[in-house]
Amino acid sequence: MALAIISSGGDAPGMNPAIKKFVDYTYKRGEEAYLIYDGLEGLIDNKIKKATHQDVAGIVHIGGTIIRSSRSKRFFEYKYREQAYNNLKALGVKGLVVLGGDGTFRAMQKFSSEFDINFVGIPSTIDNDIYGTEYCLGVDTALNVIRDALDKIRDTASSFNRAFLVEVMGRDCGYLAIVSAIISGAEICVIPEVKFEKEALEKKLSQEIKDGRNYVLAIISEGAKKTSEIHSWIQDTFALETRVSILGHIQRGGNPTVYDRMMAFDFTIYAIDYLLEHNNSNKVVVYNSGKFDFMEIEEVVSNRYQLPQHLLNAINYLD
Ligand code: F6P
Repeated sequence: MALAIISSGGDAPGMNPAIKKFVDYTYKRGEEAYLIYDGLEGLIDNKIKKATHQDVAGIVHIGGTIIRSSRSKRFFEYKYREQAYNNLKALGVKGLVVLGGDGTFRAMQKFSSEFDINFVGIPSTIDNDIYGTEYCLGVDTALNVIRDALDKIRDTASSFNRAFLVEVMGRDCGYLAIVSAIISGAEICVIPEVKFEKEALEKKLSQEIKDGRNYVLAIISEGAKKTSEIHSWIQDTFALETRVSILGHIQRGGNPTVYDRMMAFDFTIYAIDYLLEHNNSNKVVVYNSGKFDFMEIEEVVSNRYQLPQHLLNAINYLD
């Protein structure tokens, strides 16, 4: 049987270890492995190549995705999805391993409802915002990149009387922000999921500043869209000179951590085994409480990821 792998949407550290495992393990199982280049755009344009072990040699430690990615507009159109299907059919590809996030999984749900496609999705996004799984590939590496940046910002922050505001990624989800705030000891964290209560914080921080606190660290989630509002609020309320750092795409890069490499290998083995043992698969591998399982694509895309309650609660316990 021929299987193919594709990465689509925002890249995430851990995709390369997954691609390497995909090729090596598919051949080990006695099947053929194909690489789809340039995401869904490449699937439409038939950029599909039979993989060799050489193609994936020496890539486990590299961030990004060697087969590249795209955010495809054309895939929204039926005629291009049909073209993509015909490309796979012509090569005899019977199953797809799909590395991607929410948008990619929505595209796959549509694609598989129209054509005879078997796929298993591997949740891969630094945002950690996919319904049904506690963990998405790339999150641990992104958090370590943010931790490193925050540790450095704190060095300079503590040397001045200043406030530092750091915006971290997360299109609609505050996961990266809240975890980063907890592990860096930030005083303020603003995420889209929780109403920002200025008054309580104002009282607490004003007292602390009176008592000698000389700097403030605030983490703002990109999805909250409040970076400039909080900037003005801190300057005006606490009379602290305030600097803003938007970490941006640096958070998507970097060598995958040990955890992301191990997760990539496990996610991929589960995905391949499932595809080889089932004729009809429209699933996503999910990871919860230390166990891997599979969830129907319908269920994944028709629900919204919710931050776990203990993280939501933590917003109120920041020092
Ligand atoms: O992949 C997720 C993500 O990094 C989000 O955190 C962010 O909002 C978005 O992608 C940025 O997308 P792009 O790379 O297309 O600018």
